[in-house]
Amino acid sequence: MSDQYQPRIVGFLCNWCSYAGADLAGTSRLKVPANLRVVRVPCSGRINPLFIFKALEEGADGVMVSGCHPGDCHYISGNRYAKRKLAVLRRLLDWVGIEPERIHFTWLSASEGARYSVEVTEFVDKVRALGRRNPMARQGVAS
Ligand code: FES
Repeated sequence: MSDQYQPRIVGFLCNWCSYAGADLAGTSRLKVPANLRVVRVPCSGRINPLFIFKALEEGADGVMVSGCHPGDCHYISGNRYAKRKLAVLRRLLDWVGIEPERIHFTWLSASEGARYSVEVTEFVDKVRALGRRNPMARQGVAS
């Protein structure tokens, strides 16, 4: 690994589609940055915005949320609720002085291992460009 700044990213992935897509990327031996720490959730709709605040407070430089494509959510519309919740959260982050670009929402199916690789790579690059540490991170928790 190079001397390049390596941002810490927390990824909340829906069990049914996105997590399986991440698994496919792994079994296909696709290149995926190791910056993402995955948290598997039953549905993206399960994600409480407080989870994201907690991740940022604990030192994450960015948070990625990924759920099933519209119409594929195993709980009917959890992914649509998640997208709406994150849209509000991004505005709130902007209001408190945290770049909303540190939060990324995407739809990924179980067959999109290649796309998972691209999404993670692009998001890591974007957070890297934003710079080290978000202003919400507690001092001394993560360096
Ligand atoms: Fe995947 Fe709801 S089950 S987003």
